[in-house]
Amino acid sequence: MKTIIVTGTPGTGKTTLAKKLSEIMKFAYIDANKVIAKYNLSEGYDYKRKSKIIDTKKLNSKILEIIKEIEKSKKYGVAIIDTHLSHYIPKNKADICIVTKCGLKTLARRLKKRSYSKEKIRENMDAEIFDVCLNEAKEAGHKISVIETTGRLNFNQIAKKILREIK
Ligand SMILES: Nc1ncnc2c1ncn2[C@@H]1O[C@H](COP(=O)(O)OP(=O)(O)O)[C@@H](O)[C@H]1O
Ligand SMILES: [Mg+2]
Repeated sequence: MKTIIVTGTPGTGKTTLAKKLSEIMKFAYIDANKVIAKYNLSEGYDYKRKSKIIDTKKLNSKILEIIKEIEKSKKYGVAIIDTHLSHYIPKNKADICIVTKCGLKTLARRLKKRSYSKEKIRENMDAEIFDVCLNEAKEAGHKISVIETTGRLNFNQIAKKILREIK
């Protein structure tokens, strides 16, 4: 079974893309937020940054366990993992790392729609400006595919492109 990980700044379209691809291509979709909640992987709350503190090692081993289970079930040819922490999964466990990106105006608009504080919006905008997820994914040695989500996407085309890249 192949594994696709999807990372990117919050608001750049990971969940939309990962869910669409899993619908179109019948991929197994893994929502890391659900994994974190179900297995209590949050180590507390960072009140200043208004975000959960996650032990990425624990999250990784749980996700890898889930991937093994899916593989055993033989129901899926591909699993897709949705979290801005997915690029911490070791490179030998992922066939490709999709990094979602979008224009800054678009991102600001999307983040404002969420009930994020000004500081949290700023932090995420900075993360996108400095390409934090993309750079970390590169440093980790992943095979990378950047998907720009500012305009309208042809999800069928993206699915085909990704499948070609992981063949
Ligand atoms: N390709 C796209 N085209 C238009 N809007 C999008 C696209 N991808 C995401 N969005 C919108 O942007 C917002 C954030 O998308 P989401 O997939 O939740 O991002 P993430 O999972 O990275 O936080 C949502 O309101 C979603 O509808
Ligand atoms: Mg999401």
